[in-house]
Amino acid sequence: MTLRLFETHEALSLAVANEILQRIQRKPTSVICLATGDTPLRAYQLLAEQVAKNNVDVSQAHFVALDEWAGVPPSNPGSCRHFLTQHVFTPLAIKASHIHLFDALAADIRRECAAMNDTLKSLGGIDLMIVGIGMNGHVGFNEPGVPESNYAHVIDLDEITQSVGQKYFSQPMKLSQGITMGWQNIFEARTVILMANGQKKADIMKRAVEEPISNACPATLLRKHADSYFFVDALAASKLA
Ligand code: PGA
Repeated sequence: MTLRLFETHEALSLAVANEILQRIQRKPTSVICLATGDTPLRAYQLLAEQVAKNNVDVSQAHFVALDEWAGVPPSNPGSCRHFLTQHVFTPLAIKASHIHLFDALAADIRRECAAMNDTLKSLGGIDLMIVGIGMNGHVGFNEPGVPESNYAHVIDLDEITQSVGQKYFSQPMKLSQGITMGWQNIFEARTVILMANGQKKADIMKRAVEEPISNACPATLLRKHADSYFFVDALAASKLA
């Protein structure tokens, strides 16, 4: 794991936008897996601006979602599908055949996970994965204690995730389960960038960087990945030794 520090969230977001852009320029058929949430939003806005300004061809790239709230319909602005459509797929004019998301309403969500694993295999795996970090150290919805052996799976959400997750919704939402890429999907991704910004992430970033590697703080597991990066702004890095 390589730690990269940025003065501001804006600088961090620009760096992430550039990483996505450069990856696609180097390999136009790249498979990019994207997190949702407050952390990466600005990076996606900057990515869309750069693509438009520099007329970059992103049409051959494939986009995959990191996770989804089980049972939340795509019409709900708090769903990961809605977020990625609004902030990435529509601005970049990505064709439907190049978008691979979990169907939160699927009758059999376990089959949905198996289908995602098959899709990733047929696309040749994930080239670049952008993830955030939850207040409990989760990555995607890999909550504390989740086995490292998992591929995409359905998971009961931690209490912290259920309550913090309310911020994405205009009305109180029952968030009991999530669908998520598992640690094996993450370990197999060629490059993983974890983003963290703001004072509220300072304690968990200290744990992610300094605690022994274990699934008690899932983000520590990223330190085992051969090409992983923690992109952290000054506030989120403020408690690092
Ligand atoms: P946030 O979510 O970007 O909204 O802070 C991060 C996460 O829970 O992974």
